[in-house]
Amino acid sequence: MRHPLLSLSLCSWTFCLFAAPATAAESSPRERLSADFGWRFHLGNEWSTAQNLTKAGSSYGPASADFSDVSWRRVDLPHDWVVELPFDRKADGSHGFRPVGEDFPQNSVGWYRRTFELPKSDAGRRIWLEFDGVFRDCLVFVNGWSVGHHESGYSGFRYDITDVVNFGGPNLVAVRVDATRAEGWWYEGAGIYRHVWLLKTSALAIAPDGVFVSSRFKDNLSVGSADVQLQTRVHNAAREAADATVVWTVLAPDGKPVAKARRATKLAAGAWLDVAQTARVGAPALWAPETPRLYRLRTEVSSAGKVVDRVETEFGIRTVAFDANQGFLLNGKPYVIKGTANHQDHAGVGVALPDALQDFRIAKLKEMGSNAYRSAHNPPTPELLAACDRLGMLVMDENRLLGSDSQQLRGLEELVRRDRNHPSVMIWSVANEEWAVQEAEVGGQVAASMQDLIKRLDPTRPVTYAAPVGNEHAGVNSVIEVRGWNYHIGADNMDAYHAAHPQQPNLGTEQGSTVSTRGIYGNDPQRGYMSAYDDNAPDWANTAKQWVGFFETRPWLSGGFVWTGFDYRGEPTPYSWPCIGSHFGILDACGFPKDNFWNYQSWWTERPVLHLVPHWNWQGRTGKEEGQEIEVRALSNCDEVELFFDGKSLGKKAKKRIAELSWKVAYHPGTLSAKGYRGGQVVAEAKVETTGAPAVVELTAPRTALDADGQDVAVVSVGVVDDKGRLVPTASQGIAFKIEGPGRIIGVGNGDPSSHEPDKFFVVPTVRTRALDDWRWHKISDPYAASLPEVEARFDDSGWAKADVRSESGPLGLNQKAVFRGRFNVSAADLTAAGIELWFGKIAGGVMVFVNGRKIGRAGDPRGASIHDVKSALHPGENVVAVSLANWGHTAGINQGVQLRLIDEAPASQWRRSVFSGLAQVLVQSTHDSGTIKLTAESKALRTATLTLSSRPPLKPRPELP
Ligand code: GAL
Repeated sequence: MRHPLLSLSLCSWTFCLFAAPATAAESSPRERLSADFGWRFHLGNEWSTAQNLTKAGSSYGPASADFSDVSWRRVDLPHDWVVELPFDRKADGSHGFRPVGEDFPQNSVGWYRRTFELPKSDAGRRIWLEFDGVFRDCLVFVNGWSVGHHESGYSGFRYDITDVVNFGGPNLVAVRVDATRAEGWWYEGAGIYRHVWLLKTSALAIAPDGVFVSSRFKDNLSVGSADVQLQTRVHNAAREAADATVVWTVLAPDGKPVAKARRATKLAAGAWLDVAQTARVGAPALWAPETPRLYRLRTEVSSAGKVVDRVETEFGIRTVAFDANQGFLLNGKPYVIKGTANHQDHAGVGVALPDALQDFRIAKLKEMGSNAYRSAHNPPTPELLAACDRLGMLVMDENRLLGSDSQQLRGLEELVRRDRNHPSVMIWSVANEEWAVQEAEVGGQVAASMQDLIKRLDPTRPVTYAAPVGNEHAGVNSVIEVRGWNYHIGADNMDAYHAAHPQQPNLGTEQGSTVSTRGIYGNDPQRGYMSAYDDNAPDWANTAKQWVGFFETRPWLSGGFVWTGFDYRGEPTPYSWPCIGSHFGILDACGFPKDNFWNYQSWWTERPVLHLVPHWNWQGRTGKEEGQEIEVRALSNCDEVELFFDGKSLGKKAKKRIAELSWKVAYHPGTLSAKGYRGGQVVAEAKVETTGAPAVVELTAPRTALDADGQDVAVVSVGVVDDKGRLVPTASQGIAFKIEGPGRIIGVGNGDPSSHEPDKFFVVPTVRTRALDDWRWHKISDPYAASLPEVEARFDDSGWAKADVRSESGPLGLNQKAVFRGRFNVSAADLTAAGIELWFGKIAGGVMVFVNGRKIGRAGDPRGASIHDVKSALHPGENVVAVSLANWGHTAGINQGVQLRLIDEAPASQWRRSVFSGLAQVLVQSTHDSGTIKLTAESKALRTATLTLSSRPPLKPRPELP
């Protein structure tokens, strides 16, 4: 989309509005419809040549509208097929030991298909198909036309499909996704794992990602009024020039309009035009993680007296800056970054996170006291940023790869255009750890070009690079605005660098990281577990205490991002198989806190925190027999902590800020308790008891009222407790789940980094096949004739020659044309199947397929199976299929067999998961129906639990593509 930008401004005005009456948000002439529901999915690379490179609009196989997908699985988006695969020791461990990639071609290509109707009244509008993210390398087809090819698995993309859609008729979208190659060294998933949208706009409209709103204050200090910069890119897709008036209205967090501006202009046919204005907002409510106040900008485009487009953009008013001595400044004041770096997968669903899970994860991090999130090492999903804006979490928004070639720069530009309105985004990162080039001059040149581009598109935010080097200023570090530090703490590195480059601000882009497993208190190479004490870190990294302690005494470092907030799949460290996931998280892959959660909480929040480690269920454990000493630690931000065993004091200890208190306690079943003091007063208490045996399953959820929109999710915790309701920290029972009502389970997990239990349970539709061998054939003169008696149901073919359709090739000779006719019987019972297909192993030179005289579709791709949905054309008794053919140079005929395929819907599946250290998680998603959802959890010898959730029509339903 490189178009000359015209700027032809005719007239403009701008003013502030004070306490003007709020106007109700009118509906926009644009529609943005979710296309997440109603897809069919197939895993396999049978149709590698579906794209027709020689002739337009005539793709083959699944890319063609004539292809049947009724035997394919139904899926809704977001969807990740890798999380559905079993674990395989031969697979790549850094990607989580799932069999995908070059060594597993059968699992590395997937197809998605969906149909939709457009009303006739849409003619004249522009129709866009938008993908927020597909992993990866995908071809997109609409009605047999190839409409786009997108490689990166982390960037969004969109296609204007106006020219090839049917207005007033059916349309087919087919997407071929190829995840053979990886882009990262962590679990990446595969498939359409983010949302898909269909966008309808007027011909004259705001361009995609065409709104940019930012605010400036005098001296970048957020006092007094803010100048809100309004910038809109307008596109005139019409064949005539058009007048356009852009009106911007700034709405305060309470919905009242507080500023308005306008600019009139003219756009030539086909033009893209940037229109800008400034509006002043007096005494704005500032955005910060603690006060995430959101303004809205309404941008309206009118032409010939009519509003032709309207877009609402959420934004925040705030300033960000980095200072070489004071560190990060938010709204002009030093602000310590208490961040976590994260990959994007979650237990149960892989990388296909419903939006509600983004909120769940951000809320967990906030509970710990974190105020910043690094999207490592790729652009995040838009809904993650929306959650950070709303809940209050700063974001380091990271580009995937260092590169200044046109493709990389285009991707970078799209990232900045997409994300620059989010107040949460406080810094851009050009890349992470580019070992081969980061210290070379060439690395610096490339990074500088990327930084220049970012600054042109967004002069309001700084730029960094996550550098895994010490006191090293060459290459990228010599050009980048903010020096990023991955690890390398220590005076020799950081202090020396700061002294040598006193003008360059610094940021701990990747710090920590303790490796630990929830509920485990000793390293266990066999099972692949790490102790949950804050004791172990890889040799390039540090424990929580080490890095936070170092950074706290150096405010110029700005704070930093822990590797990682949550455990993620892949990169098992330090062990490998059977360990399949990482241990770096402060929370496990479900979001259950490990003990370090309370360390960070004690350092990152002011409220009194007191937490005891470990659990006190050591009865019968080898090496921890009764009487043996166990190290008990208190994680706290109190001044003093006193530990008790069965009520008897084991001593009071004064607490240093970044440290843990430790006691050696001889193990006997009983109760460990602690009191935390501030100024001599007890401000916090904690208790760890030896529990009874597992007795009851317990189900709990922070949210039990769901929106009946098919996407909301209840994050349900499964606990195994004793008969007094105390969580049994050593429990590992298998639990079976049942669900009734308008809900479905979409994933299960338990945070065990070595668990090989499935995340997903599903049954594929069964296919009953019947060979069709009764065929005859006969030459004809014109298979393209408007009327062909030879394909009619009642045509007498008794004199025709018998045909062998199991042959490899033939039988038509060069320039010969023919019709093949086959007969088969179906019963009334057969017709009750969910779907019925005709499957042809190969039709070479095929023209058209008919069933009982009815045209079914084009005869398909000579290089792959041709499959047709024929159920509606069949009747009980004898049926006739006819195929017209022509040989224009290759062989032609029906070969490699013909089958009738009866498809039965898949039955519901049985979901199961064991608890790990007493806990598991079930993700329950609403359907589009309201009602009561009942989740039941059962385990042998334990009392069953039932959780009731309610599902109600959403207050603000998300418009959907029917
Ligand atoms: C870092 C890298 C991360 C992750 C981590 C593991 O160097 O940036 O992606 O691999 O190491 O410790």
